[in-house]
Amino acid sequence: MKTRCGTLYGIGVGPGDPDLITVKALRILKSVSAIFAASSTKNGYSLAETIVKKHLGYTPVERMPFPMTRDKELLAKHWEANAGRVLEVLNEGDDAAFVTLGDPSTYSTFTYLVRSVRRIAPHVPVVTVPGITSYHAAAALSNTPLTEGEESFHLISGANGGRNLRKIIESSENVVVLKTYKYFDDIFDTLEDLDLVDRSILVSRMGLEDETVVEDLRSLKGKTLPYLSLVIIKKRNRT
Ligand SMILES: C[S@@+](CC[C@H](N)C(=O)[O-])C[C@H]1O[C@@H](n2cnc3c(N)ncnc32)[C@H](O)[C@@H]1O
Repeated sequence: MKTRCGTLYGIGVGPGDPDLITVKALRILKSVSAIFAASSTKNGYSLAETIVKKHLGYTPVERMPFPMTRDKELLAKHWEANAGRVLEVLNEGDDAAFVTLGDPSTYSTFTYLVRSVRRIAPHVPVVTVPGITSYHAAAALSNTPLTEGEESFHLISGANGGRNLRKIIESSENVVVLKTYKYFDDIFDTLEDLDLVDRSILVSRMGLEDETVVEDLRSLKGKTLPYLSLVIIKKRNRT
């Protein structure tokens, strides 16, 4: 029986374009015994898995289902089950990787997995491998500088509509809003109130065939946006 516990790697695979995965991420993915990816219980799809498969072909990637819900109890139940499955691999002395879109430290399901694994087995070695975030890739795609000089920058979630934005924009020259898809109209109304519509852009489904950069946010009012959408707001200069 092996006594060493395997290492759990959290690997950021970038936001969509398979070329935006790091050399280190690929090296580790080629070395581990098992690769896991979170997938929605709704459609079973994982973009992180698709990115990995572009590089590793038939190497199996095991999906870890979790519901898209804010119900903390239900989420905890799923992540505990997922943690148990990862621990089956680690307890054999084998290393496992969990792949996640963008960066594993930024609004990532990897955080939930590690928390659940450590609750059961606090000694498990964890290594986080950074990835290119969605907003860094969006800034590059649209040639938008995120900060300059003495400016500050805030990353916020749009899951509560424009509420966070109204607060944060007071103290920051640059704001990026992730998770905008469900609440875009409310975010748009807030931007309008703050006279910032013309200082904002929306980037959707970056790295995928239908990727879009929208400069006129008015054209999106009332439309259903893809889940993979973010807004960059620059209070001073947009370029
Ligand atoms: C749960 S967060 C994951 C963030 C990710 N870990 C990162 O480092 O960017 C999901 C949100 O990230 C943004 N996002 C991720 N990938 C994207 C893409 N390819 N195009 C546009 N937005 C993306 C969207 O705002 C989406 O709602």
